[in-house]
Amino acid sequence: MTDPHSFNPSRLPSTGGRSDTRLDHYVDSYAQRTHKMTASAVRSLFSVANRPEVVSLAGGMPNIADLPLGKVGNLLDELIQRDGARIMQYGSGQGELQIREQICEVMAEEQIRAHPDDVVITAGSQQGLDLVTRIFCDPDDVVLVEAPSYVGALGTFKSYQTQISHVAMDDQGLDPDALRQVVTSLRDQGRRVKFLYTIPNFNNPAGITQPTERRREILQVAEDLDLLIVEDNPYGLLTIDGEPLPAMRSMETDRVIYLGSFSKTFAPGFRVGWVLAPHAVREKLVLAQESATLCPPVFSQFAISEYLAKHDWRGQIRQYRDMYRERRDAMLQGLTENMPQGTTWTHPTGGFFVWVTLPQGVDSQKMLPRAVTARVAYVPGDAFFADGFGSRHMRLSYCFPTPERIIEGTRRLGEVIADEMRINEVFGITDDHRLHSNPTPGPSPDIS
Ligand SMILES: Cc1ncc(COP(=O)(O)O)c(C=O)c1O
Repeated sequence: MTDPHSFNPSRLPSTGGRSDTRLDHYVDSYAQRTHKMTASAVRSLFSVANRPEVVSLAGGMPNIADLPLGKVGNLLDELIQRDGARIMQYGSGQGELQIREQICEVMAEEQIRAHPDDVVITAGSQQGLDLVTRIFCDPDDVVLVEAPSYVGALGTFKSYQTQISHVAMDDQGLDPDALRQVVTSLRDQGRRVKFLYTIPNFNNPAGITQPTERRREILQVAEDLDLLIVEDNPYGLLTIDGEPLPAMRSMETDRVIYLGSFSKTFAPGFRVGWVLAPHAVREKLVLAQESATLCPPVFSQFAISEYLAKHDWRGQIRQYRDMYRERRDAMLQGLTENMPQGTTWTHPTGGFFVWVTLPQGVDSQKMLPRAVTARVAYVPGDAFFADGFGSRHMRLSYCFPTPERIIEGTRRLGEVIADEMRINEVFGITDDHRLHSNPTPGPSPDIS
């Protein structure tokens, strides 16, 4: 017998209660800030890209297949039996003290010394980004980002109607001279530069890491120019070669807001990240958090806290590193074996991504439908720029597919690029302006 109270989709009307019309009656009513919220141009292709026959080198989903689910299940079971009524209640707007203390231990792995009072828990570091932008940025304020930068951050900055200005990178990450030049030139134009957003470890999408000395140089420029830095570090502990580098926040406390996350070192579904901020900023962040969510997810915080207390989380991270190393090696081997001449790529020492620069005249955006037809997918480079630059680049992720599938994916991709080059040879290069536009007032980004 079926339970009359249980949810039964067949009892819904055929449209599921959804209106069939696609006309938007509210088109004139939306706030200005929604005008820059755009769906990804490649989203429609992604439904095809997710088919099993397609090797997707596109998505950046953490590979959590190795998590000991039985053990995690037992921990959660015990936690609920022991503390269920408390952990399913509302909690503190700043986040629970217990996990904030543990987070200070996690950050010590990257030489950060912090007090739990200065940590604010967020729903993933994505919400950290949102709250930081919310408290600092008015429309038309400038946010500086690397060229290229994380697509989710660009979306957040756009949704607050900021102006995004890219700063060039070289093979050691963000270029301090370019930073100085961009800030000076923007200020000369009377623009308000609110902060620099940077991903020092295994940049998403570029896969480049700033060496310690480079971090110091960037901090020096920030000091000289009185510039705030937002350091986004979800991948820092996932080093593949060597040990984690000291975070920028470990070298400078007052000028750096640090964003951390359990999404890549444990699992993203709990949606727990954090912001470590100078004390006064922390107070504003808590107010913003309270107005956004009342409090960050309490159950998730206790679940992660239990995991950190009872599981060898450092050992788990070592296991993740080995797993990603195998995949990174497969990606680099596949690229070496299969990419046509004129293609270059970065050599990440951790994280999930390789950034590929295509031969002159090959446009990753235009090539994508042909690649998906050849059963391989990637993210075109222009997704990582706010200004249309980047179509000669693509981001490849090695985090999810098996090493064999990664190598097969690079083989298919190599053939598609070679075909594209042959078409260009026959019909002439149809280069468009975006291939050569310079996204910053400084030198062109050279990150290959
Ligand atoms: C650079 C960077 N920052 C932030 C995030 C958001 O992570 P989460 O909200 O899951 O902590 C991601 C996710 O891919 C990322 O790559």
